[in-house]
Amino acid sequence: MSARQRLLGLLAHPPRDTTGPWLDLVAGRPGSRGRLQDAWQSEGGAGGYDGLLAVGDQIEGLVPDLLGGRNLRAFYRVDERLGLIGGETVLDLACGPGTLTRRLARAVGRDGLVIAADLSVPMLTRAARSTPFACVDFARVDAMDLPLRDGSVDAVSCSLCLHLVPDLGTTLEEMARVLRPGGPVAIAVPSHAPGPFRAVTETLARFGQARVFGPGELSREMRSRGWDGVQERSLGGIRIVDATAPF
Ligand SMILES: C[S@@+](CC[C@H](N)C(=O)[O-])C[C@H]1O[C@@H](n2cnc3c(N)ncnc32)[C@H](O)[C@@H]1O
Repeated sequence: MSARQRLLGLLAHPPRDTTGPWLDLVAGRPGSRGRLQDAWQSEGGAGGYDGLLAVGDQIEGLVPDLLGGRNLRAFYRVDERLGLIGGETVLDLACGPGTLTRRLARAVGRDGLVIAADLSVPMLTRAARSTPFACVDFARVDAMDLPLRDGSVDAVSCSLCLHLVPDLGTTLEEMARVLRPGGPVAIAVPSHAPGPFRAVTETLARFGQARVFGPGELSREMRSRGWDGVQERSLGGIRIVDATAPF
């Protein structure tokens, strides 16, 4: 069965159009979600981000721990954080240009399925163009209203997206709903700079109309919503939060 057929089988409602490089599963046209997300929805923003991520993707294995290599590896090696062994169905929520999607695809192998999902058309266009894996399909989705059936995926990767969603609680609930009970999630969010430098990240966040997370902020929110085994690490400018879905 093709990745497209498998994805169609997991959807809560059948889409009208099942052709094209991705399924468009967003109802209506969402307006602006803030300056930073507007950038990710532009050709230039998507291209710039793609280039930046590609550099890290190439060098993450070469950078010594002392120079931040451990942090870089924790960010890129999302397949290891999810404990994938092959054959799983994984949602790459906010797949961007597909950099982490390709790692997930290699980890799940031909028996698995990676659903590479994003709100941005330029990001999805890049991801679909550069991810030639039979086990991957692409969908335009809104993280706050996932089009998948309850418990339909084994694992979720959600990297650098939760600072952009207007409603964090709804997004966490949607991730928990589509995950099988106990399924792992691997999250990365931008982190506030320490001490007096916090004013800088606060200003940047205000300008970008996005959110930045303080220590323990996302973990507390997830625990209060029933997520298990929540573990948070600070990796320079980002916080990594790994957890398992509520039973
Ligand atoms: C900084 S990029 C991260 C891409 C990729 N996950 C990574 O870590 O390289 C942020 C992505 O989140 C996507 N995004 C923002 N809000 C979203 C939403 N509500 N639903 C789906 N994707 C969203 C953006 O379109 C963009 O591609």
